[in-house]
Amino acid sequence: MAIKYLFQAGNYISEVEDTLYGSFIEHLGRAVYTGVYEPGHPCADEQGFRRDVMDMIKELKVSTVRYPGGNFVSGYNWMDGIGPKEQRPVRLDYAWLSKETNEFGIGEFYDWAKKTGVTPMVAVNLGTGTPQEAGYFVEYSNIKGGTYFSDLRKQHGHEEPFNFKYWCLGNEMDGPWQTCHLEADDYAKKALETAKIMHWVDPSLKLVACGSATTTLPSYPEWDRIVLERVYNEVEALSCHHYFENSTGNINDFLGSFVLMDNFIHTITSTADYVKAKLRSKKDMMISFDEYNIWSIAGEPWMDFFDRDPNNRFTKAPPLLEQHYTFLDALVLGGLMCTLINHSDRVKMASLAQLVNVIAPIFTKPNGEAIKQTIYYPFMWASVYGRGKALRYFANVPHIETIHGQTKTLQSAATYNEQTKEISLFILNIDQTQDQEISLVLDGFGKVELKDRQELVGYELSAQNTFITPDAVVPKHRAFTDAEKQSLCVKIPALSFSLLTLKVEGEL
Ligand code: AHR
Repeated sequence: MAIKYLFQAGNYISEVEDTLYGSFIEHLGRAVYTGVYEPGHPCADEQGFRRDVMDMIKELKVSTVRYPGGNFVSGYNWMDGIGPKEQRPVRLDYAWLSKETNEFGIGEFYDWAKKTGVTPMVAVNLGTGTPQEAGYFVEYSNIKGGTYFSDLRKQHGHEEPFNFKYWCLGNEMDGPWQTCHLEADDYAKKALETAKIMHWVDPSLKLVACGSATTTLPSYPEWDRIVLERVYNEVEALSCHHYFENSTGNINDFLGSFVLMDNFIHTITSTADYVKAKLRSKKDMMISFDEYNIWSIAGEPWMDFFDRDPNNRFTKAPPLLEQHYTFLDALVLGGLMCTLINHSDRVKMASLAQLVNVIAPIFTKPNGEAIKQTIYYPFMWASVYGRGKALRYFANVPHIETIHGQTKTLQSAATYNEQTKEISLFILNIDQTQDQEISLVLDGFGKVELKDRQELVGYELSAQNTFITPDAVVPKHRAFTDAEKQSLCVKIPALSFSLLTLKVEGEL
């Protein structure tokens, strides 16, 4: 019996914000140097920005890029990265035990973002940094002129302000690994005082406070409550960070990672709603899921990178967190993308962490090519096709038991684009052997036509894209059969991530 997927015109979750499809570049490993920036590379433009990488980012339709960190930001002085390059200091980066030359700083990031067509999301240092330095950073970036820092920006060649809109109040300050980590109440006080200054300098800023860095910290979710109780009125959103890995070695558990993300979002929205009630506020707190991805932390070579050879410490752009993604990872990311779309009423911003070389969909060779990793495709599908309104649907799908409890074998999300009159349906089938037949029932959309089907399916779970075989794992188009077109019953293959495009007449 086919599983019924029931959609009703007008029954939607929310408009999907452009900012849901953001990403992240940190001064970490080769994300910046030999990632987005490599003067002398055959594809580099006059500022040293790699055009091959920019083209891929454009194809991914990345909306925002968070910068400069990450853990890096908690020891970073933004003033090190401005002015003439030859006068910029070379520093020790405490987060990644690397050497930071500061050749690429805030002005270069602004220029790069403009050329790449992405909106900057910048983070201030609330580790070693002070509220006043954050205020100066806003002044340098967003004030037109006539003050010390705004005039300095002009002297540095940027006559017009950067007008950065999205700002993170530090990074993962709940994590003991963070430079100058803080307890919840101490962070909340510092974040509030910083936010006040930043808003005095530019009231239009949209600020994001640090929420939990992972669900595994003992402070989760008390941290979130304590922080929100203090900063609620000053911020637009609270951040969530989580990396997913195959920690049990059981493929079903890993494929079911979307349940973990789903639970995390439920917990944080509930916590935020509790604080809203306690403060008698009328405002709903949004979530910025500004770090998520698959990251096999255990057993990755970067863990003992510094221990193996002490001479590796404090080198420029060492090859850190260079994860090579598999077909299995692409399926897992497909499930996570669905979860983000299904929570688009509260998750208004998100950043795939990261974008280039460091746990990233794009991977480069210094002085060589750039390739698309397997996870490039599920992100691209969501970002390109997951626009418009996220649809609510009903589907009674089978469940299996995983470490996350009862887990749906089909994880899905759907969006309706009013302009193109198309519905995009994303479906992950985590069942390792069973294809699933689904029957699409669309009420109130007029005539429905199956238009296109793309699938990520049929590869070895460990298959990867490499410099030698860059297209080993790519989506394939599969035409609909006449029977499928007539019945609107479609087979979803075992272990696959599919994108079905449906043409409708429109909402009636
Ligand atoms: O993305 C890699 C690191 O993971 C980031 O620097 C940090 O914020 C998180 O712990």
